[in-house]
Amino acid sequence: MKVLVVGSGGREHALCWKLSQSPQVDRLYCAPGNAGIAEVAECVPIGVGELDKLADFAAEQKIDLTVAGPEAPLCAGLTDVFAARGLLVFGPDRQAAQLEGSKDFAKQFMLRHQIPTARAATFTELEPALAYARSEFAAGRPVVVKADGLAAGKGVLVAGTAAEAEAFLRQCFDGAFGEAGIKVLLEERLEGEEASMLALTDGRTIVPLVSSQDHKRAWDGDAGPNTGGMGAYSPAPVVTPEIMARIEREILQPFLRGIQEEKLNFRGVIFVGIMVTSDGPRVLEFNVRFGDPEIQPVLRRFEGDLCEVMYRTATGALRAEDLTWSEEPAVSVVIASGGYPGSYGRDYPISGLAEAAATGAVVFHAGTARKNGVVVNAGGRVLGVSARGRNIREAIANAYRAVDCIHFTDCFARRDIGHRALAREPQRD
Ligand code: AMP
Ligand code: GLY
Repeated sequence: MKVLVVGSGGREHALCWKLSQSPQVDRLYCAPGNAGIAEVAECVPIGVGELDKLADFAAEQKIDLTVAGPEAPLCAGLTDVFAARGLLVFGPDRQAAQLEGSKDFAKQFMLRHQIPTARAATFTELEPALAYARSEFAAGRPVVVKADGLAAGKGVLVAGTAAEAEAFLRQCFDGAFGEAGIKVLLEERLEGEEASMLALTDGRTIVPLVSSQDHKRAWDGDAGPNTGGMGAYSPAPVVTPEIMARIEREILQPFLRGIQEEKLNFRGVIFVGIMVTSDGPRVLEFNVRFGDPEIQPVLRRFEGDLCEVMYRTATGALRAEDLTWSEEPAVSVVIASGGYPGSYGRDYPISGLAEAAATGAVVFHAGTARKNGVVVNAGGRVLGVSARGRNIREAIANAYRAVDCIHFTDCFARRDIGHRALAREPQRD
C-alpha cells in the first residue's frame, strides 16, 4: 500500500514511525515532514494547507490512504477535496471537523446528545459577554473564556478574575484571533484532573485507545505559559477502570450515536479532552486529530498494524480486536527551544541524537530541519523523547536518561513529566 501522511510535527513522526513498521506499507510519504521523518518516509515539499497540490500528488502517486495529521487541513476540507477525486483519507470531512473547528458547534452537539460537559453561554457581542462574565464572577462562579474557532491553542483563558476575563474578551472581539474570536463561549470552570482519551471511529463503531495525559504548561510544577504540550504519558492513572467505563458509556457511545444521527462523515480519530471531576468525566474539548505529544507514548504501547487499523477506519471496517497494547507504561518528554512558547532562536545544531537512541529511547522530531547535513532546531517544540519501562517510574527514568544525551543552544525540557502518575503510584517500602 502507498500511504501519505500530512504534517511536520512529532505527531506525524510518531505516525510515520509506526506506519513504516507495517508489512502492508510499500511506500510511505510525508508532506512536508521534517529531518526525523525523513529517516522513515519520503518527504514531499508540499505544505499542509495546499489541499489541491496534496490531492494532485496523491492522485499521481496512486496513494491508497492519506492520513491527515493536524486539524487545519481537515477543517479546511482536505477530506472533501480528496473524496471528490476518489482518494481515501483517514480523517473527518469539513462539516464533521467543526467538532474541533467551532467550540460552539461542539458544545451544541454535546447538548443535543447528552454528553456531559461544562455549562456555557455563547456571545457574538462584547457588551453582553462582559455583563455575563461580571455577574458569574460576582456569584462566585469563575468562567473560562473560549474563542469559537481555531486559534492555534491560544484561544482559551482560564480566567482568575473578572478583570482578566474582561481583558481577554476585549481582545477576542478586537480581532486578536481573527474570525476565530467573532463568537466567544463563556464556560463554567471545572475542577479536577485532566486526561486525554483518543478513540477511533469509522462511523459504525468506536474503539478507544489507551488513556494518556499531557503537561500543557511550559515549566516544572505546571507553572508558566500554556504550550502545545511539554510531555505526556500513558496510561493516565486518573482514568481508573470505573472512569473508563463511564467515559465509554457517557461520552464515546453518545458521541457515536450523535454522528450517526446527524449523518456526520467521521472516519478517523476523535480526541476527547476530559476533566475527571468529583461528579465524573466531563468533556473540555473535542479535537478531530491525534493529540501531540499524547500520540507518542500511546503509539509506543501500540502492538498492532497501524496501517491496517487506519485503512479499516477510513473504509468503515474498524475492528476492536486489531488494537492490541503493551502493558508497559510509556513517557515522552519534549525538548523545546529556549523562549518557547514565545520567540526563540533557530538553526542550532542538535547533538546526542544517536546516543539518545542507543539508550533504547525513540526520539520523535517535532521541529527539526537538516542544514548542510546537520540536524538543527526549526520550531518551538523540537523533539519528543519517548521511552517505556516496567512501571511509570522506570519509563520516566529511561526517558530522562535519553533526554540528558541531547543538547542544543538554549534547549530546555521539563524535569517533572509524569509527576501526577508517580503521585498515584502505590508507595513502596
Ligand atoms: P481547550 O482548548 O478547550 O481544551 O482548553 C485548553 C485548556 O484550558 C484545557 O486543557 C484545560 O486545561 C483548560 N480548560 C478548558 N475548559 C475548561 C473548563 N471548563 N474548566 C477548567 N479548565 C478548562
Ligand atoms: N496535546 C494537546 C493537543 O494535541 O491538543
